[in-house]
Amino acid sequence: MITVNSVYHDYGGKGNYAVSDISFSVESGKIFGFLGPSGAGKSTVQNIMTGLIPLQRGEVLYDGRSIKALKTKFFNQIGVSFEQPNVYAKLTGYENLKYFAALFSVPTHNPMELLDRVGLRDSAHKKALEYSKGMRQRLTLARALINKPKYLFLDEPTSGLDPSTAASVRELIREQRDGGAAVFLTTHSMALADSLCDTVAFLDNGKIAAMDSPEVLKRHYGKRLVTVVYNEAGNERSESFDMNDRALAEFLLSVNPIKIHSQEATLEEIFLCVTGRELKS
Ligand SMILES: Nc1ncnc2c1ncn2[C@@H]1O[C@H](COP(=O)(O)OP(=O)(O)O)[C@@H](O)[C@H]1O
Ligand SMILES: [Mg+2]
Repeated sequence: MITVNSVYHDYGGKGNYAVSDISFSVESGKIFGFLGPSGAGKSTVQNIMTGLIPLQRGEVLYDGRSIKALKTKFFNQIGVSFEQPNVYAKLTGYENLKYFAALFSVPTHNPMELLDRVGLRDSAHKKALEYSKGMRQRLTLARALINKPKYLFLDEPTSGLDPSTAASVRELIREQRDGGAAVFLTTHSMALADSLCDTVAFLDNGKIAAMDSPEVLKRHYGKRLVTVVYNEAGNERSESFDMNDRALAEFLLSVNPIKIHSQEATLEEIFLCVTGRELKS
């Protein structure tokens, strides 16, 4: 489990906090989604959690141990994929994975098998500079997985991918979770968050504005429009109510309901409702 406790970060040292009072935990075998528009502070938090930016204030704990006390060897257990592909353009996909695998002192995946999993087997021996943006992104993901990480950090893993590749990447991420990894996913795609995350946190202006499972958020913030379909003299009719409207209960008693269904709000609508802002990249 990764625990983040009341983390603040001030880049300039002048009391302007890029992120403040950030607290959450990412459990093993779960996917935690960090959502927010550009500039919200997502990368700052990821960089603090992965040790790229020194922790200034607050705590980051890996299974209870402070990041400050962790030795270099510990980072063998972490996999990071950045939004900007961090692979060598002049090496082939295969050479890239061979190279990165050699940096770890833990068992690693077979590079070719991993390339196959991200749909790059046929391009394994092409230089990364000849790859399309989506291919480089998949290579970046493969790089993040090469050391079978226990803690996986993914920044916008499916942005710019075609739908079928995006689906296979989602499946690969689910497999990491099912294998027990703690997955920290940064995205501005609500659809991705909704389909993958056990918990999501909405980051706005460097602060967490809301945090819960997509289910609970949708229930809590949703408009909860309830539509009652009923039978009136042999005709099917329908009427909609706010869930909290007392009239709903009275109405249900006064008609012959055939079915009742609710329309939940989407995560996108909830983000707008919580922050007053649209979730754009
Ligand atoms: N190296 C830096 N120096 C100064 N300010 C930075 C630096 N990196 C990010 N910031 C600022 O911190 C805020 C959060 O940025 P970032 O964490 O990159 O957001 P996100 O990843 O959500 O787009 C922004 O206002 C950004 O301008
Ligand atoms: Mg970012």
